[in-house]
Amino acid sequence: MQNIENCSYYGVCGGCKLYELNYNEQLKYKQKNIFDLFSKIDESLIENIEIPLASPEIYRYRNKVEFTFFQKEDETVGLGFHQKGHYNRFVDIDDCLLMNEENALILKYLKEWVNSNNLSAYDKKNHKGLLRYLIIRNSKKNGNILVTLVVNGEFSNVFLPLIEKLLKQKLSITGFIIVNHSGKADCAKVDNYTLLYGNDYLLDSIGDKNFIIPFDSFFQVNNYASKLLYDKILSFVKQGDHIIDLYCGAGTISTYISDKAKYILGIEIIPSAVLQAKKNMSLNNVQTEANFIAGRVREKLSEIRFENDYNLVIIDPPRSGTDKKTMAHIGKRNPERIIYIACGLNELAYNLKIILEYGYIIKDISSVDMFPWTPHVEIIILLEKLTPR
Ligand SMILES: C[S@@+](CC[C@H](N)C(=O)[O-])C[C@H]1O[C@@H](n2cnc3c(N)ncnc32)[C@H](O)[C@@H]1O
Repeated sequence: MQNIENCSYYGVCGGCKLYELNYNEQLKYKQKNIFDLFSKIDESLIENIEIPLASPEIYRYRNKVEFTFFQKEDETVGLGFHQKGHYNRFVDIDDCLLMNEENALILKYLKEWVNSNNLSAYDKKNHKGLLRYLIIRNSKKNGNILVTLVVNGEFSNVFLPLIEKLLKQKLSITGFIIVNHSGKADCAKVDNYTLLYGNDYLLDSIGDKNFIIPFDSFFQVNNYASKLLYDKILSFVKQGDHIIDLYCGAGTISTYISDKAKYILGIEIIPSAVLQAKKNMSLNNVQTEANFIAGRVREKLSEIRFENDYNLVIIDPPRSGTDKKTMAHIGKRNPERIIYIACGLNELAYNLKIILEYGYIIKDISSVDMFPWTPHVEIIILLEKLTPR
């Protein structure tokens, strides 16, 4: 039986910010944040805001975890998360109750190996050291594991003996990637990468749809709650809709709702995700006509014909949100309905205010708890044009 109070890093690790609340209290806390946000837009909206749909799993729900390498006080290399309240201090993690259990073995062998080989952790102050991040992706469908190491420089072959060691354990590692990130940006950015073993993607599923997810593509981190999110989106789609799916990732929403759609156009910035979006439609035998294009939403939106072509816009931007121009662009093009999916509350308020100026009303506000123990919550808003076009 899992219990957050048994976590070795309880109260120290900055990951589970809501560790002092039981699950029901977490949902109420998130509902209150949504109330506060919408009461700033229109008091009357909050009457119909229900408590977020609960995540079917609250432990070991994540299919992706990202750890930072750091130099410990004893000069060995640690691997972990930020300490609570600190941007520059880390907690050395052996296991995390939000990730798959077998990942603990990867952490153990990886730390032993890098320390016995005297490899160094990257230090952002002086831009020296090799090891930056470890990203582990777990398929909830078939248990396969994709490991990505982000390093400062071109040191790929150094890791071949490590892969051999990991493959000897009872771990279903099906891909091992080295990303060379020598820039100063403090994120797991892909400059270029080397596939050292297996495949650079995973197969996973949401509901009854299967998806191939390239290692650098976005995929919802909580498969169980994603089904609730995608079902909610599907409930707002009408038979025969002409849909534009903005920030479409590997085409997961497009595929999920495709049975109801007449035509879908997806826009996404990561080229490998765009290529895969089309393939994910085929993987699921989707017959609906669809097209996916690579590029920035703001730029691509202004290039395509829109009026009368699309009656539904789905917009699912990253946590940092979208921008004013994109919102205004959508508003001017006059779609019948907009489904806005957001996990960043502040940007959401700002963006909604813009779109409301174009004659839309908020018809529904729903939310799904995709991230138990953290303050984040996924909100789904249905907007409708007041006067039909
Ligand atoms: C929250 S994810 C949503 C992905 C997809 N809708 C899903 O459910 O899996 C946001 C996506 O926006 C993409 N993205 C970020 N900035 C972008 C931009 N300016 N233009 C187009 N896509 C962008 C990211 O690569 C990511 O795939």
